Amino acid sequence: MGKVAHVGVVGSGSMGNGIAQVAAQAGYQTTMFDIAPPQLERAMTGIQKSLGKLAEKGKIKEPADTVYKRIKATSQFNDLKSCDFVVEAASENREIKFKIFRDLDALLAPGVILATNTSSISITEIARQTKRPELVAGMHFMNPVPVMTLVEGIKGMATSDACFKTVREVAEAMGKVFIEAKDAPGFAVNRILMPMLNEAFFALQEGLASPKDIDQAMKLGCNFPMGPLELADFVGLDVTLSVCEVLYRDLGDSKYRPCPLLRKYVEAGWYGKKVGRGVYVY
Ligand code: 3HC
Repeated sequence: MGKVAHVGVVGSGSMGNGIAQVAAQAGYQTTMFDIAPPQLERAMTGIQKSLGKLAEKGKIKEPADTVYKRIKATSQFNDLKSCDFVVEAASENREIKFKIFRDLDALLAPGVILATNTSSISITEIARQTKRPELVAGMHFMNPVPVMTLVEGIKGMATSDACFKTVREVAEAMGKVFIEAKDAPGFAVNRILMPMLNEAFFALQEGLASPKDIDQAMKLGCNFPMGPLELADFVGLDVTLSVCEVLYRDLGDSKYRPCPLLRKYVEAGWYGKKVGRGVYVY
């Protein structure tokens, strides 16, 4: 395990492009891979906009363009070959992630750390897909990545101390505060956050208050920056449901059962802000 200089990111959705951005801000040469070129284009436009905002406020040390130029966007998986640290941020789907880890393991030099931004899949099971389980760890960023300070670090059963130390160092170089959570369903953030978002849907389903009032209640009553329904729309109702399903299945407790109304929104394809319709219309 050498010094990290070149970071690879798999996936260029809202999490992937945010991770690529903070990697470049930390001075790492960065390669962001996605199978879909139009998505890569959208990601690079988003990064440019975000860097512009941060530069305007003096929140980055270098000119936005210098940081931007450190990122190479590619739809060629082989371009990740020279990376010495990779963060996977593809769709939250077991089979997709498992295949990516098998492919990364085959492509990358021995000693390269493979981190995953999964929000709910077992790190131990992801690591098992590779011949280097000691070099696989969870590195869970929060949305929007350039703004949110936390990274949850998760060790799988086989993750070595040396690997985990490097993961922490890379997260800190990216300007993040690192906490360690166990490899258990939802880790720390989603174990606590998702039941609250789910409960907001039960409240809405029961007609406890209007969506706006449920959100106002938590914003003004608890000083949350966003109300729970607004936050679920922001995270994605599909993602929210899928994490709730993992909590319910893996913890086997009825208190985690997904709210039928949340499921209805997902069945309707109303996934939240990213599609222009969720609990709210955008
Ligand atoms: N890049 C750079 N700057 C950004 C940005 C981005 N991508 N997004 C927002 N900002 C900046 C804005 O420019 C603004 O800066 P300013 O205060 O200097 O003007 C600041 O952030 C605040 O943004 P806005 O004024 O647009 O709006 P808000 O004040 O509502 O803040 C928010 C937006 C930071 C998203 C805030 O609403 C918030 O913190 N919401 C909660 C987010 C949260 O809980 N995230 C975690 C979700 S859980 C998760 O990710 C885990 C997963 O597994 C599900």
